[in-house]
Amino acid sequence: MRPIYLDYNASTPIDPAVAVAMRPFLDGRYGNPSSGHWASIEAKAALENARGQVAALLGCADDEIVFTSGGSEANNLALKGALFALRDKGDHIVTTAIEHPAIVEPCRFLERLGAQVTYLPVDGAGHIDPADLRRAITPRTILVSIMHANNEVGTIEPIEECARIAHERGVLFHTDAAQSVGKISTDVTELGVDLLSIAGHKVYAPKGVGALYVRRGVLLEPVIHGAGHEAGRRAGTESALLAVALGAACERARDLSSMDQVRTLRDRFWHELQKSFGNRIALNGHPTHRLPNTLNVSFVGRIGAEILARLDGVAASTGSACHAGRIELSPVLQAMGVTPEVGMGAIRFSLGRATTREEIGAVVQRLAEIFANAV
Ligand SMILES: Cc1ncc(COP(=O)(O)O)c(C=O)c1O
Repeated sequence: MRPIYLDYNASTPIDPAVAVAMRPFLDGRYGNPSSGHWASIEAKAALENARGQVAALLGCADDEIVFTSGGSEANNLALKGALFALRDKGDHIVTTAIEHPAIVEPCRFLERLGAQVTYLPVDGAGHIDPADLRRAITPRTILVSIMHANNEVGTIEPIEECARIAHERGVLFHTDAAQSVGKISTDVTELGVDLLSIAGHKVYAPKGVGALYVRRGVLLEPVIHGAGHEAGRRAGTESALLAVALGAACERARDLSSMDQVRTLRDRFWHELQKSFGNRIALNGHPTHRLPNTLNVSFVGRIGAEILARLDGVAASTGSACHAGRIELSPVLQAMGVTPEVGMGAIRFSLGRATTREEIGAVVQRLAEIFANAV
């Protein structure tokens, strides 16, 4: 079978327009953007132009964008930077039980340093209840961090309402938008957030670049100390090559119309699976309020990894992992209360701009064959 890529939530290919934008910086524009001579001028201009492109996608000012090495670093800067800057005010962070490890692990680290972290529960669709957030905030709370959309099941969280609740109590609000950027609107004013993370390789830029939106006036302690790059918020010589790539990718991502086709294909995929498998499959995540490209489906009573292993040439992810001979559900599915019988058969298919109807048809057919042979 021809290779089929249905793992766009893991990473996206580099968009051809992004590669074109990067080319001059591979072929000779090597200047350090911080230098004061001819070789730096183009690099500095390109860096600032890229910053403007990222800012335009997020609907913020250029100086509110800090380039990072990716989503993980942006999240680390938001969480550690806020806690270290606001230690005198408090030491309590509120987040959710379904965050990516790039949020969970910095939180665990901060807990080891003495911080308190509350992990809000989610319902069966992966939604948090804003009333739980309201109850969780204490006078010691300095930051709320809730992901915009979940990477495994695609459920979109009620960010606007949660940010409002945090602000009513004078608390900063961060959202991890690594999965939502380029798929749904990530306008920081509409969302009402103070901090927002994005990752280049989820939006058709290369790996190794991302950005953190930092609302003007929000003070963060840097995580990487050094020279005064990125207005003193993140030391390290900026890569014009990678910034330009992220800028070009963000420029393209402003037009969300390609997501209409992706959503149509994703829904078609689900209907065809339902036709073939009936009640032997279940949808994980919210039926409607979720990312347009994400289809997390459980083959009830089966093991996702085993199905994937037989789906030769199809790149997708499973929601279960085998540890010491035991199948364990992902923390996200566990938090959603998905039963082991259902959850261990979970497969995440995530579609992208290049996904075709033929590819979806071929995967459904192959799945049907696998199951026919297994009976
Ligand atoms: C929701 C979410 N946050 C953060 C990250 C980490 O981003 P990066 O790989 O750029 O560090 C990912 C990547 O899988 C993600 O899905």
